Amino acid sequence: MALPNGQVAPGIGQLPTANPSVLPAIASPLLMSELNLILVGPPGAGKGTQADRLRKDHDLPYYSTGDILRAAVKEGSPLGKEAGDYMKRGDLVPDEVMCEVIMERVDGEEAAGGFLLDGFPRTVRQAEVLSDRLDARGRDLTAALLIDAPDEEVIKRLSGRRVCAENQHTYHLLFNPPKREGVCDRDGSPLLQRDDDREETVAYRLRVFHDQTKPLIEWYESKGLLRHFDGSRAPDEVHQRISAALAELEEAA
Ligand code: AP5
Repeated sequence: MALPNGQVAPGIGQLPTANPSVLPAIASPLLMSELNLILVGPPGAGKGTQADRLRKDHDLPYYSTGDILRAAVKEGSPLGKEAGDYMKRGDLVPDEVMCEVIMERVDGEEAAGGFLLDGFPRTVRQAEVLSDRLDARGRDLTAALLIDAPDEEVIKRLSGRRVCAENQHTYHLLFNPPKREGVCDRDGSPLLQRDDDREETVAYRLRVFHDQTKPLIEWYESKGLLRHFDGSRAPDEVHQRISAALAELEEAA
């Protein structure tokens, strides 16, 4: 399938040739030519934690809408100005804004050989836009990885989460503490609590998840793309289960 920029969009079974940056993915444990993955789940279920491992395993370009938006807020860019109030309240940023932000990346050269999306889509509308765009490019979503966790677990995790100021490396005061209190092990920057991790905002984000993102999960299930993982297990165990599921998908391809 030819892309507007003249590149060839590889499908399963075809080797991507246009973009040398995808070559490391071929050397990864998975041999599928294009791995297009999304992570879905309640706030605090461990999407970012697993994304960190998966992007290393498969050398995938990684796009976290939360990270992109928080960086935009920090910079004071037009996107940040538009998104900031929604995020502080725990509301979703409007679909049109998010679709524009992500489609630009999915269509970019970096993601030509595959991608890992974290936090997008979050509504059925966003999923439809992604699906139409991939269809138009002759590409497919490989799987929607649902990392699930009960509300009580989410509340415990988010109240103890701390994130480093420099690179958003994530810790937990009890489950994954830094070596030195309040300081990131990896880059030495201070650890902070996210504005939307305060108790009342977490409760609201969970309501938004149940109302607006649960239907998306059903949508992916109906398309046979959903893979379910119990996010209340230890991070390494969740990671092993996801890796096993991806290996099975590769065998079936
Ligand atoms: P976003 O940043 O995407 O937040 P979220 O989905 O609510 O997810 P989190 O980042 O809070 O949690 P996570 O699942 O990544 O958990 P983590 O690995 O950190 O979005 C923020 C806001 O941006 C939204 O509210 C919205 O306003 C806006 N937005 C973003 N995308 C949007 C979109 N598509 N449409 C509209 N608006 C959008 O883990 C949490 C904690 O638990 C950590 O401390 C970690 O160390 C610990 N932990 C992780 N796994 C385990 C485990 N297995 N056992 C024990 N502890 C664990």
